[in-house]
Amino acid sequence: MIKIAPSILSANFANLAEDIKDVEQAGADYIHVDVMDGHFVPNITIGPLVVEAIRPITNLPLDVHLMIENPDAYIPQFVQAGADIISVHVEVTPHLHRTIHLIKEQGVKAGVVLNPATPVELIEPILEEVDLVLLMTVNPGFGGQKFIDSVLKKIEKVSQMVQSRGLPIEIEVDGGVNPETARKCVEAGANVLVAGSAIYNQENRQLAISEIRG
Ligand code: DX5
Ligand code: ZN
Repeated sequence: MIKIAPSILSANFANLAEDIKDVEQAGADYIHVDVMDGHFVPNITIGPLVVEAIRPITNLPLDVHLMIENPDAYIPQFVQAGADIISVHVEVTPHLHRTIHLIKEQGVKAGVVLNPATPVELIEPILEEVDLVLLMTVNPGFGGQKFIDSVLKKIEKVSQMVQSRGLPIEIEVDGGVNPETARKCVEAGANVLVAGSAIYNQENRQLAISEIRG
């Protein structure tokens, strides 16, 4: 089953509650929350306060994508704020087991994220421990960027790694996802599709979601 995770980065922040309820009614499976610190990525977005504020707005799992340096220092705050899934980038997480366990011991699901140029071999030793692998299909920082096709091979590789070990891991993709690129990602083995602009820039979000789901 394919899950759709609208990214609220492309929502209207002055109307966030309505924009979240809207995609929930339109059939979304997760709410994707992009947390940026202005260090790991060249943009600053939202923190635990906003996660806490939107928690009562929706019944959907909050899929929190941390694009921040030193994620260990902030994970407890995001758990307390109501995150259901917390994903960290391998590029800023030197002690990956420690960080993944820090997330899981607080009772939330743990994901690991790879930038487009980061090889999938880096997550091989941690695969048994994670609930989700997120493959970036753009360089993180902004919505509305162009899908990087070379990541499709990485999706296939991760999918093979996961299947050959029989692991119950979700494979999520993020960046430049639209109905056309979504189809390629699903063919390669992805089952959770993040989409920001391709959902929030459309008048009819139900149609946008069903077209991305394919
Ligand atoms: C990129 C973020 C994405 C972004 C996706 O740094 O992690 O979640 O919002 O936006 P679109 O779907 O517009 O590429
Ligand atoms: Zn994201």
